[in-house]
Amino acid sequence: MDLNTLKTELETLENECRRAIAEAAGAAALDDVERKYLGKSGALKGMLSKLGSFAKEQRAEAGKLTNETAKRVDAELANAKEKAGKAALDAALEDRGFDITIPGPVVRAGSLHPLTRVRRELEDLFVSMGYAVLEGPEVELEKYNFDDLNIPADHPARESHDTFWTTTPGLCLRTHTSPVQVRGMRWWIDNKFPMPMRAIAPGRVFRNETVDASHEHTFHQMEGIVIDEKPVSIAHLLHSMKTLLRGIFGRELEVRLRPGFFPFVEPGFELDARCLHCEGKGCPFCKHSGWVELLPCGLVHPNVIQSGGFDPEKHSGFAFGLGLSRLVCLRHGVDDVRHLLSGDVRFLRSFC
Ligand code: DAH
Repeated sequence: MDLNTLKTELETLENECRRAIAEAAGAAALDDVERKYLGKSGALKGMLSKLGSFAKEQRAEAGKLTNETAKRVDAELANAKEKAGKAALDAALEDRGFDITIPGPVVRAGSLHPLTRVRRELEDLFVSMGYAVLEGPEVELEKYNFDDLNIPADHPARESHDTFWTTTPGLCLRTHTSPVQVRGMRWWIDNKFPMPMRAIAPGRVFRNETVDASHEHTFHQMEGIVIDEKPVSIAHLLHSMKTLLRGIFGRELEVRLRPGFFPFVEPGFELDARCLHCEGKGCPFCKHSGWVELLPCGLVHPNVIQSGGFDPEKHSGFAFGLGLSRLVCLRHGVDDVRHLLSGDVRFLRSFC
């Protein structure tokens, strides 16, 4: 065979091939075309076997011509296959009455509950000030919830706690996070941690109260306690509370201490801040007093220090109780504390 004959034959074969590709209906038919022309025993492969009949100096050129034809056919075939695949997909979508241009349902990202957010924020703040984050049980011994906190059985302060008692004597749902003060001191001593002891304990507390816009049977608090071998004074307490409030509210707040009675601290205080809304001029939020009650606190009572295992002659400290639920309401202007645990997604979404 000479080169001209080869060229003519290749041309005929290529045209035949292109026609077959154009006429093939669907991917399966294109596979047949591929097998017929490009497969192992296909027509174009057959041409390669004829190369032996060429004179030596023409063989390379003949091989090149054959390979180029095969390449072109291959490209044409790949193109046709892609089109066929797309057409098949379109047909399948059409069949199902599927309109891929219709926007899909919006998937909302979940978000943290405002209580969790405030709790984590405060934990970060306290950890940065060297505090440990502790946990205590929600079902608590009467001993830790009351007795060890200087609230004996006949003490009138017990009544104000509206306790949920369990059917097991001496066991209740904790009415505050203060029991972690004593648990925490014991844990500190048992582990021989260095002084001063600085700890917070966030968590749920429970009270059998009449539920209304500002009272829930379940709410969140965060207890704080600092015990040291050096004398701890009201100045330390006040400084720490101011630092804490600056962290929470992002600015300096004017504060004042009023006497407050809590059996586990002596002296005990209510810490008020200048109203965040009216800056002290008087508004409905602060009941026109110019001050809002923020947190109760005080110097830890010697009896409590003793219950915790420290020597009240050598140790002193301060403690405070933050109402987390109240704080979330204050921060976000939530007027009904019951929203917090209602599980109502409309409420929760307003914090996304
Ligand atoms: N445990 C108290 C309560 O729930 C709050 C409290 C008051 C905690 C004074 C303290 C404190 O640590 O010093 O009513």
